[in-house]
Amino acid sequence: MIIAIDGPSGAGKSTVAKLLSRELGFEYIDTGAMYRALAYKAYTNNIEIQEDKIDEMLKTTAVDYSDNKIFLDSKNVEGYIRSEAISKGASKISALRNVREKMVELQRKIASNKNVILDGRDIGTKVFPDADFKFFVTASAETRARRRYNQLVRTGARTNYKNVLEDIKKRDEKDSTREISPLVKADDAVLIDTTNMDVREVVKTIADIVGGKNVL
Ligand code: DC
Repeated sequence: MIIAIDGPSGAGKSTVAKLLSRELGFEYIDTGAMYRALAYKAYTNNIEIQEDKIDEMLKTTAVDYSDNKIFLDSKNVEGYIRSEAISKGASKISALRNVREKMVELQRKIASNKNVILDGRDIGTKVFPDADFKFFVTASAETRARRRYNQLVRTGARTNYKNVLEDIKKRDEKDSTREISPLVKADDAVLIDTTNMDVREVVKTIADIVGGKNVL
């Protein structure tokens, strides 16, 4: 069974998806982490984010997601991919056609024959258009910026709320207007606005819908 959770950054998708995966006994795949890992490789190797340069990089790059961890060339890079610089790089790299083709293929392969929850931007529209359940989780830009800001501060980053809000708005614009697989709600996805909800409420809402269909 496939559960797709899409939405903009900072809406709480990954926190919700992780908790839900534990509750339902499903595997979890954070597809954003895959794009982030590629951006991290480009960043640390001074590779420009352009189609031809990244094409070369992809030939010698292995990305994998297992046990809730992201692996880049067999190394767990979870601790390196959440900075603001890598967020920007991931937004840029994820707009490249060759990158998307490769990642989508990989995501389908990793999820095959399993019960999985995937979170991302195009899971319900492109990666698994026939997913058993689709959710579009969102919140106001201000709420998402506040959450991201708190998260960055917790990890010791020096930043300010206004910059985070600006970045979120820019990234929303980029992710929603890009040519290939833009961030859009699938027609058949359930919309969940988490602006005034806490994580437990969101998890319960989704679990009730999934469980309510007697599929578990
Ligand atoms: O969910 P996230 O913030 O970790 O995602 C990082 C970037 O990757 C974000 O700019 C959008 C992009 N992304 C994407 O284009 N498609 C996905 N399935 C997941 C993420």
